[in-house]
Amino acid sequence: MKVLGIETSCDETGIAIYDTAKGLLAHVLYSQIDLHSEYGGVVPELASRDHIRRVIPLIEEVLANAACQKADIDGIAYTAGPGLMGALMVGAAIGRTLAWTWKIPSIGVNHMEGHLLAPLLEKNQPNFPFLALLVSGGHSLIVDVKQVGDYTIIGESLDDAVGEAFDKTAKLLELGYPGGPIISNLAEQGDASAYKFPRPMTNRPGLDMSFSGLKTFVLNTWQDSDQSDTSKANIAAAFQEAVVDTLLIKCKRALKQTNYTQLVMAGGVSANKQLRAKFAEYSQANNLQLYYPQTQFCTDNGAMIAYAGALRLEAGEQDDKSFQVKPRWPISELKAIKQNA
Ligand code: KG4
Ligand code: ZN
Repeated sequence: MKVLGIETSCDETGIAIYDTAKGLLAHVLYSQIDLHSEYGGVVPELASRDHIRRVIPLIEEVLANAACQKADIDGIAYTAGPGLMGALMVGAAIGRTLAWTWKIPSIGVNHMEGHLLAPLLEKNQPNFPFLALLVSGGHSLIVDVKQVGDYTIIGESLDDAVGEAFDKTAKLLELGYPGGPIISNLAEQGDASAYKFPRPMTNRPGLDMSFSGLKTFVLNTWQDSDQSDTSKANIAAAFQEAVVDTLLIKCKRALKQTNYTQLVMAGGVSANKQLRAKFAEYSQANNLQLYYPQTQFCTDNGAMIAYAGALRLEAGEQDDKSFQVKPRWPISELKAIKQNA
């Protein structure tokens, strides 16, 4: 079964074709970073309009790259939420319309399920059940993953998501958008031990997290510093180290609580080099298996949507005639797919 995936939930138009027999055939991505960077963040209306401009040409491009004709496509998966209402509407409207004209089934995919399953696009895959750390621009979740669609959130951020904390910190330090990769690069030149940042909510039990205080800590530290480039790099490094340490402390607890020995990291922040390195070090020392997607599939992309949609379409699920996108759609509301379908 060949599934066309359409991702338009935020500021990236991602299109892909996933073949359940052969794997990922092709994927293309258009990032709107340049469009939004002068505003220091995503402008929802501009995002929707740009998705409209890009989706059809990118679908034509991905079909050509995969050496497929329209008639070869057996199903369409589009991101139905969570995300920006207008941006989601673009992908959903185009996905549903194409499915109707091509007379094939379509399915609305949960964006966070797409992220969570992205590591399964790789050859070396985890086996269910496993623990997942899902860290993106909008979510920070620790999830007990029993099966595709059977997700229990056992920890989450009570305020800013991890990616959001990176983005806000970069803005405070006037570094630009999106903050994650910028802070990560700058941190490589800094000395994390120059400052002592807190590890929020780690000295009390539980798996919930909080990152908004770190941003205030960054601001105060920056204002009290000599505001040199060196101080900026040191603050970036100390901030990143505090985030990574906090996530590791919480995941260690979650692994202990669940007894899982496999940990999956996914979402935009899982591209972070220091996060990967520290988690890899811990995993090796403790006989755990660590999985994450290729860097290009950590951030938003069409491949993860095509893949998650393919699993559900193959299990016999498909949209009915109603049409709904969900800007808020907790992953815990999803239903497990039917086994052995
Ligand atoms: O998953 P994603 O592309 O979109 C959402 O679903 O939100 O995640 C985007 C987030 C942004 O906040 C971005 O700053 C962050 O992921 N990010 C990173 C890195 N690359 C992207 N954060 C830390 N280090 C990175 N290398
Ligand atoms: Zn995302």
